[in-house]
Amino acid sequence: MRHLGLDRLDVVNLRLMGDVHAPRDGSLEAPFTALARLRDQGLIRHLGLSNVTASQIAEAQQIAPVVCVQNHYNLVHRSDDGLIDHLAAQGIAFVPFFPLGGFSPIQSDTLSDIARDVAATPLQVALAWLLARSRNLVLIPGTASLSHLRENCAASDMVLSADVRERLGTLAQT
Ligand SMILES: NC(=O)c1ccc[n+]([C@@H]2O[C@H](COP(=O)([O-])OP(=O)(O)OC[C@H]3O[C@@H](n4cnc5c(N)ncnc54)[C@H](OP(=O)(O)O)[C@@H]3O)[C@@H](O)[C@H]2O)c1
Repeated sequence: MRHLGLDRLDVVNLRLMGDVHAPRDGSLEAPFTALARLRDQGLIRHLGLSNVTASQIAEAQQIAPVVCVQNHYNLVHRSDDGLIDHLAAQGIAFVPFFPLGGFSPIQSDTLSDIARDVAATPLQVALAWLLARSRNLVLIPGTASLSHLRENCAASDMVLSADVRERLGTLAQT
């Protein structure tokens, strides 16, 4: 906080190691209680979780409020579909990590065909699909390219038709 020139962090996630990019059940009581203490001291405003299961979220909520969950999710990796809806019902943000597929961004003929139909790039379509997926999704696509950053921001203005969203829904691998 000294380096950032802040006296309080707006949000801090407890990131569990799990199976690296997939969660694994196990108690988070000790580390989350430590973060809750920092919140009680006013050093952290809100707490979040990353790489967690639904039962770990429930355990954390017994300790302190959870405002966001950051898990692996994108157009083709959808094992958290149920969790997203569950969190949306509680007003908790879901922040997908690897929203574009991560180290190997998503590639698919169907996605490319749809992108051509809607005059966008495939990864813009992937981001627009996420934004349409649920109101509680907050996107953090990574890029080292200014032109990709501009493309990614422009995806927030796209509106995908129900037909396009249905075709994209067939890409899910899990
Ligand atoms: N909580 C966790 O455990 C966890 C795990 C992994 C990642 N994260 C976080 O999640 C965020 C996103 O993850 P990420 O960056 O690894 O994965 P990502 O956003 O799914 O994908 C990034 C990749 O997509 C490429 N890309 C971005 N925009 C593009 C565009 N418009 N057209 C073509 N390629 C494009 C990037 O290359 P260019 O640089 O060439 O654009 C990069 O190779 C980051 O903030 C990261 O720190 C969190």
